[in-house]
Amino acid sequence: MPVLSLLRKVRDSNERKLRRLFPILAAVNHWSQKMKDLSDEELRAKTSEFKRRLASGETPDQILPEAFAVVREAARRTIGLYPFDVQVLGGIVLHQRRIAEMKTGEGKTLVATMPAYLNALVGKVHIVTVNDYLAKRDRYWMGPIYEFLGLSVGLLQEDTPPAERKKAYQCDIVYGTNAQFGFDYLRDHMVLSRDQKVQGPLDYAIIDEVDYILIDEARTPLIISGPTEETARMYREFARLARLFRPGEDFEVDEEHRRLSLTEKGWEKAEKLLKFDNIADPRAATARYHLETALKALVFYKRDRDYIVKDGRVIIVDEFTGRLMPDRRYSGGLHQAIEAKEGLPIQREHQTLAQITIQHYFRLYKGLAGMTGTAKTEEEELKKIYGLDVVQIPTNRPMIRYHHPDVIFRTRKAKFEAVAEKVAELHRQGRPVLIGTTSIEDSEYLSQLLKKRGLPHQVLNAKYHEKEAMIVAQAGRLGAITIATNMAGRGTDILLGGNPEYRARQEADPQTEPERYQELLERYRKEAEEERKKIVQPADPRSPYGRWVLEQIKKWCRETGKEFRPEEWQEIYQGGLFVIGCQRHEARRIDDQLAGRAGRQGDPGEAQFFLSLEDDLLRIFGGERLSALMERLGVKEGEAITHDLLTRAIRRAQKRVEERNFEIRKRLLEYDEIMAKQRDAIYALRERFLLPGAGETPNDAELREHLLGMAEEFAELLVERYVPRGKPPEEGDLSGLLRELAQVCEPLPELKAKRWEDLLKIVQEALKEQLDRQWERLAPHFPVVARLVVLRTVDENWRQHLLELDDLREGIGLRAYGGTDPLVEFKREAHRMFEEMLVRSEEQVMRVLLSPRLTIRVEAAPALAPAAARASSSASRPAPSKPQASASPPGRVGRNDPCPCGSGKKYKHCCGKGL
Ligand SMILES: Nc1ncnc2c1ncn2[C@@H]1O[C@H](COP(=O)(O)OP(=O)(O)OP(=O)(O)O)[C@@H](O)[C@H]1O
Ligand SMILES: [Mg+2]
Repeated sequence: MPVLSLLRKVRDSNERKLRRLFPILAAVNHWSQKMKDLSDEELRAKTSEFKRRLASGETPDQILPEAFAVVREAARRTIGLYPFDVQVLGGIVLHQRRIAEMKTGEGKTLVATMPAYLNALVGKVHIVTVNDYLAKRDRYWMGPIYEFLGLSVGLLQEDTPPAERKKAYQCDIVYGTNAQFGFDYLRDHMVLSRDQKVQGPLDYAIIDEVDYILIDEARTPLIISGPTEETARMYREFARLARLFRPGEDFEVDEEHRRLSLTEKGWEKAEKLLKFDNIADPRAATARYHLETALKALVFYKRDRDYIVKDGRVIIVDEFTGRLMPDRRYSGGLHQAIEAKEGLPIQREHQTLAQITIQHYFRLYKGLAGMTGTAKTEEEELKKIYGLDVVQIPTNRPMIRYHHPDVIFRTRKAKFEAVAEKVAELHRQGRPVLIGTTSIEDSEYLSQLLKKRGLPHQVLNAKYHEKEAMIVAQAGRLGAITIATNMAGRGTDILLGGNPEYRARQEADPQTEPERYQELLERYRKEAEEERKKIVQPADPRSPYGRWVLEQIKKWCRETGKEFRPEEWQEIYQGGLFVIGCQRHEARRIDDQLAGRAGRQGDPGEAQFFLSLEDDLLRIFGGERLSALMERLGVKEGEAITHDLLTRAIRRAQKRVEERNFEIRKRLLEYDEIMAKQRDAIYALRERFLLPGAGETPNDAELREHLLGMAEEFAELLVERYVPRGKPPEEGDLSGLLRELAQVCEPLPELKAKRWEDLLKIVQEALKEQLDRQWERLAPHFPVVARLVVLRTVDENWRQHLLELDDLREGIGLRAYGGTDPLVEFKREAHRMFEEMLVRSEEQVMRVLLSPRLTIRVEAAPALAPAAARASSSASRPAPSKPQASASPPGRVGRNDPCPCGSGKKYKHCCGKGL
């Protein structure tokens, strides 16, 4: 290896990164001693002292050691947990806007409190979790620490109403899911008045399970959508047609990329069935698109694997977690195509009103940090896309989870029989077992097998996070058998012997019946102790297992720089939770998360994966080679095999999928980059025209400036339309121009000019004067109406633009075969479309606002409905805020009048719909 890269390797090595943190840790420990002697009041007073010091020039980095020590002490006094040194290290990494990789069960929830406190002294802190249940759990679990120190804590849940959201965001620290934060951002940019916004500044976010959120979730953007006119009949028709096409003959399938393409024969068939002369005809573009979508729905999307049908609806099953995602819909008409295929009612087509990728949303934060048990395999992506550096933090105690090698069967059936046998064997020993599957179908199949053997068990489909988390939390009890779709339990804590607090809480409310609660808690604590003793037993240090454990301990000592003293490790343990995986997942991280439910906080534990050649991963990637290999090795149905060659082949397959998925995400991001720039521009524009909030004074002078600018540009547009730029005016169509001007100007100007530039000047002045006339004539309502017209027009056009961008992307995909780089094409086209859209919007606004026929009839409030009020997001969300009557009720237009937004529709069919 060349010397330079070797050097770089050393420089970047994790050890080096850690070593740099040690002096800071030492400083925290130094302060921690001092904090012990402070009274509660003195400790609390530190918050205002820090704020003062920060205001007078000290930096957060400077006060970090002291501030962390304060939190540490507060944590001990409030929730009885004192952050370990490794947790402090993790906290420092988070403060440094990096990713702390800390193994599952290391106490990351507590780690986040230290940087959250420090950063809340200078801005708002958002703590992002993977589901509502965890947000709530963490807010109430950690809340007492912050509250003790005088900071406020907010919580966002899916059903939190807007007014409460606003309050939550005003708190120093807010817990919520990525979807809650992201949708609030989008909704804030659909409101009409400033005080309808809820979110506040995006200063600093700590993302828990950061790999899941920034990598797995990042493949689907957050979308807010509203209904469009498209009919259900069309989807049904295409679903019917799709069944007439034969794979291999009419279309080719690429299962790996979930792509399909019609063959020549297929095209001809489509042309005949769809009655188009030529399917390549641009008018057939949508028909072609819908046909392919219907085929995809038929070929790639399997019921009870990719989605389930419940109450007449198609509900997506998250491919990573097996969780049901009732609030998500596949985009681009795929969801409807699946509904049509299943013969279900077609939910009305939803059109994208606003959209952002997770990547872009989180890049909006000034500071971003994350934590997870599994980030290292994705380090490159995290670095490239988010600029986040990963630091691996050693565990607090040596990790002694024993990984058995994978066992592989030829068939799925044989695999599950073997799993059931293994479960029976473990159950006889009283060992708790957690079995992870990748689909509800598998869970149910296995459940049947266990029932046949009379083994009591729980099946979790990650449908009800809260209830299931309670059950998963008890998965460590004596003899417990729990089947969960992959990791219903990411983030849930499985305690050996069960979680006494959860148990007590289910029978008695600690608030209303504190005594009974305490009594139960004591009892269950004892029970848990007893159970634990049966689950975890001392092991012989001289046995092969014992020697392996000592190896682990030595390794841990090396990593943490501790000296290995054998006398300290006389007692070692075996047993604990046994985790069984029923498939290797696409990404290694996901497997590790499942296995990570065992062996937490230094407990013993075991994990093993049972696979079959019929598993998706093995089937798609190298199934045939493996099959041949098993043949050669003479493996019969029902027989298992563990072989290095196979294990290595599987790892390779996983790596390949990881790389492929990275490519998909990178692609998505590259496209989104273009849209993001446009979105930023539109959001900035909206910002300028928002109605002032209650108590704010509208800046009408600024508004006038903007509108005058628009009038000038509009004038130029008109003049150019009738007299080619630079040509003498008499060569153009002056009477045409006058006719046009009559629509937007009264009285008409005299168009006497020798040069084009002079003509332009005359028209510009005329329109500007017209604007001022309108302002005067329609005072005092004109400014409010003007703002509303701009917002509505821009929103409408932006929405249309988003739809067109979607189409463009599809179309570009097709053009790619022509040898051009689709991304470059897309960029150019998208830019052109955006410019056109802006010009179009401006023209529409001006035609309304300058029209001499514009009248404003003032009635009592309510105000015009904001676009957002009619929209609904595809991730379900509470009914958006009813538009609050704005400060001064805007002029109200009659229901049958033309809509002031310039759509040309009647007001009652447009902005006034539903009012
Ligand atoms: N400083 C501490 N002292 C004692 N126990 C602790 C401490 N910190 C955390 N724990 C305990 O460790 C367990 C795991 O905590 P937590 O769920 O926060 O871990 P995690 O790192 O988030 O795990 P996962 O990766 O699975 O989400 C909890 O039972 C918690 O009470
Ligand atoms: Mg956690």
